Amino acid sequence: MKRAWDSYHRMRWLEMESPFKGDILRGKVAVVSGGGSGIGYEISAQLGKHGASVAVMGRRRHVLDAAVSALRSQGIQAIGLQGDVRKQDDAVRILECAFKKFGRIDILVNAAAGNFLVPAENLSPNGFRTVIDIDSVGTFIMCREALKYLKKGGQGRDNPSTGGLIINISATLHYTATWYQIHASAAKAAVDSITRSLALEWGADYNIRVNGIAPGPIDDTAGASKLGAGEIMTKSRENVPLFKLGEKWDIAMAALYLASDAGKFINGTTLVVDGGIWLSSPRQLSKEAVSQLSRAVEQRSKQTPIGIPKSKL
Ligand code: HXC
Repeated sequence: MKRAWDSYHRMRWLEMESPFKGDILRGKVAVVSGGGSGIGYEISAQLGKHGASVAVMGRRRHVLDAAVSALRSQGIQAIGLQGDVRKQDDAVRILECAFKKFGRIDILVNAAAGNFLVPAENLSPNGFRTVIDIDSVGTFIMCREALKYLKKGGQGRDNPSTGGLIINISATLHYTATWYQIHASAAKAAVDSITRSLALEWGADYNIRVNGIAPGPIDDTAGASKLGAGEIMTKSRENVPLFKLGEKWDIAMAALYLASDAGKFINGTTLVVDGGIWLSSPRQLSKEAVSQLSRAVEQRSKQTPIGIPKSKL
C-alpha cells in the first residue's frame, strides 16, 4: 500500500517538473494581473522559475504578500503591486512601478478575471457589466498601458527579432454556449477578439506577439469551486474527453511555451488547454449500436438504394 502511495506521489512530482530549460526567460520581466492566486500565481511562479522577474498585480494586499513571499522563497525576484485592472490609473501606476523596479517589461499576462454562476434572467445589468469590466475592459486597459514598455523593453537585448509578448487568459465558454455564464461568455469572446486585433496591429507595428490561453476546468482554482466544475464533471463522465480536471501547471506550461522562443511565430491565437473538454457532447449512440446500425444500413443500401421510392425502381 505504502509503495503504491509513494509511487503515485513520485509520478506526480515527476509530472510537475518543467520540461523547459531553467533559463529560457533569463533577463525577462513579466507583469501578471491576477498573479496572486490560482492560475495567475502558477504562471508567475513558472515564469520566475525559468528566469523572469515577476510583478504580480491584484486587489487584495494579503494575497499579494503571500504570493510574493512564496515566489521569493523559490529564489524568484518578485514584487506585489496592489490595484484593480478596471482602473486606468492603477494600471498606469503598476506598470510604471514594475518598470522602475526591474528596468524593462517584456511580458504582460492578463489573468485577472471575475465570474459567478447565475441564470441570465437573474443577472442585473451591473452584474453583467462588472464581469465585462474586469475581463474585457481590464484586459484592454492593461494592454494599452503596457504598450509603451513592451515596445521598448520587449525588443529583446539578446534577440532583436523578439518583441514583447501579451498573454490573455480566456476560456472556452463562448465556443458553444455555457449555462449560467452569459456575462463571462460575452467577456471572454471580447478577450479573444482583443487578442486578434492587437496581434494584427501591434504585431505589424511593434513586433509584439499577442496570444491567449483558454483553460478548461482547472483543479484548485476559484473558478473550479465557484462554477462547480467537479460536480459537472462527475455528472457527465460518459461525454467528456480526457475525463479529469486540468492542473494550474498545465496552463503555466502553455504560457511558458508561448513566452519562449519556441513560440516566436505564434501570434493572434488562443491556445485551448482543456483536454478536449469543450468538444464534449452527448453520445447519441453506443459504440455497439453504431457498428450494428452502420453495417446494416450499408447492407440494405447495396440491395435497395436509399431515398428512391420503391415504386420508381
Ligand atoms: C448574481 C452577482 C453575484 C452572483 C455578484 N453579483 N455576485 N449577481 N449572482 N453570485 C452582482 C452584484 O449583485 C452586483 O450587481 C454586481 O454583480 C457587482 O458585484 P460586486 O460584488 O459589487 O462586485 P465586485 O466587488 O467588483 O466583485 C466582482 C465579482 C467577484 C466578479 C462579483 O466575484 C470577484 O471579485 N471575483 C474575482 C474572483 C473570481 O471570480 N474568480 C473566478 C474567475 S473564474 P448589483 O446589480 O447588485 O449592483 C474564471 C474562469 C472562467 O474567470 C472560465 C471557467 C472555465
